[in-house]
Amino acid sequence: MDSKKGFLKTFVQNLLSKKTPDEILETTKNSKLKKTLNAFDLIMLGIGAVIGTGIFTIIGIAMVGEQNAPGAGPAVIISMIIAMFACLFSALCYAEFASMIPAAGSAYTYTYVTMGEFMAWIIGWILMLEYAISNITVACSWTGYFMELLKGFSHILPAWLCNPPVWLINDYRTAISVYQNMDLDPAVEIPRLFNAIPICINVPAILLVFIITLLLIQGIKESTKAATALVFVKMFVILLFIFAGAFYVAPENWVPFAPNGLTGILSGAFLIFFAYVGVDAVSSAAEETKNPQKNLPIGLIGTLIVCTICYVGTALVLSGMVPVDKINVLAPITAAMNSVGLHKIGGLIAVGAIAGLTSVLLVYQLGTTRILYAMARDDFFPNSFKKIHKKHGTPHVVTWAAGIIVIIGALFMDLNISAELCNFGTFTNFMIICIAVLILRKTDPKRERPFKVPFVPLFPILGIILCGGLMVHGFLTLGISAVLFPVWIILGVGIYFAYGYKRHREVEKQK
Ligand code: ALA
Repeated sequence: MDSKKGFLKTFVQNLLSKKTPDEILETTKNSKLKKTLNAFDLIMLGIGAVIGTGIFTIIGIAMVGEQNAPGAGPAVIISMIIAMFACLFSALCYAEFASMIPAAGSAYTYTYVTMGEFMAWIIGWILMLEYAISNITVACSWTGYFMELLKGFSHILPAWLCNPPVWLINDYRTAISVYQNMDLDPAVEIPRLFNAIPICINVPAILLVFIITLLLIQGIKESTKAATALVFVKMFVILLFIFAGAFYVAPENWVPFAPNGLTGILSGAFLIFFAYVGVDAVSSAAEETKNPQKNLPIGLIGTLIVCTICYVGTALVLSGMVPVDKINVLAPITAAMNSVGLHKIGGLIAVGAIAGLTSVLLVYQLGTTRILYAMARDDFFPNSFKKIHKKHGTPHVVTWAAGIIVIIGALFMDLNISAELCNFGTFTNFMIICIAVLILRKTDPKRERPFKVPFVPLFPILGIILCGGLMVHGFLTLGISAVLFPVWIILGVGIYFAYGYKRHREVEKQK
């Protein structure tokens, strides 16, 4: 009986075992990172990670709605502001941690310090959802804009390239709905392997992820430089859309403003939250930031303000240009331009969107590898995950792992489901970080905090309420993703107990 009790006690102690901030800081002591980033650099970094599929594609779905989630219509603007606040409070909490423990691993590291090993694993597992699964969404959206672009060159390109079969540029669920919209029978159009397994492969998305994986293995320096340049391209095309489209706004399209009332606005807020996913990337640059006390909050809030202005402007123009029931949900911005005859601008926007989406994909694939690497360093994964490529000096095994997760996901998931799933994960992470700030303020009040969340506990609590509220709304209204999210968590818990927990202890013993 006593030995059982003893075992249980050790087991619980292990689950709750924490790292101290000092231990983590010790590991970064030899860091050669220079403190060079100022507030402007941080805002650039934030825009690079944040502006992408949310504004180039999801905005259309949030307005029109989908199977279980009624659309917000032009009131998507309100949805955006709700999503922005959900993000703001949590981003401030990220900033407090980042300035206090400027180390890689982001939320995974912060949770290890406050809630212990088990929760850290869960957060790491969810972060993979945030980064890798969101990239399925980004890659699908990329295909949408890529195909729109090719169509613009249909006079010089072969027809098979501009108009390939639907099943070669979509996943199964999307292909079915596209065929149905074309009044074609998917059962006839979609080929089947052995007369049973339907074949739908989003070839452009898969090729893109493959190329990005190869690029990341070559080295990240060039990749991140390219990502910064692409920020300007993204901003340019969004501003171009707002200013050129403004001339074609017909105010009657804004009526009714909220066709599905509060439910539509909340469903829209749940979905469009995807547009803000990635804001936490700003805080991960804390170690390289000059005067983080001042620059981190400016960087975070600045990113949110710039993005919200772009988002609201885009939503106003898009909903004013195209009646809600005519919005193209795959490439709404380019399609809106084409619909008023501005094909050249539409083409330019498609190019910008493709560039912008590529940069988001790059940053997030990198994010996935960092999380996997941080978890492997703590011996929760096999040693091979820590391997560094001899020639390129990059963690090639985890980079391949991250690429394969997205490629397999893109075979089975559509854009909506992957975006919703990513949002469920990000809401959970944001809430846990808000809770973690409250915990550490109690357990380690004297620790130096170069940046402090103002109005504690109010701000973290507001973050928890907003993220939690939108998440509950998602669970009550959505279908497949609301089931897949708990399945993902259960899978994570299973892998932890079957592998991570044991391996971590075995390696500790050998040390
Ligand atoms: N916020 C990122 C995007 O919209 C994930 O693509």
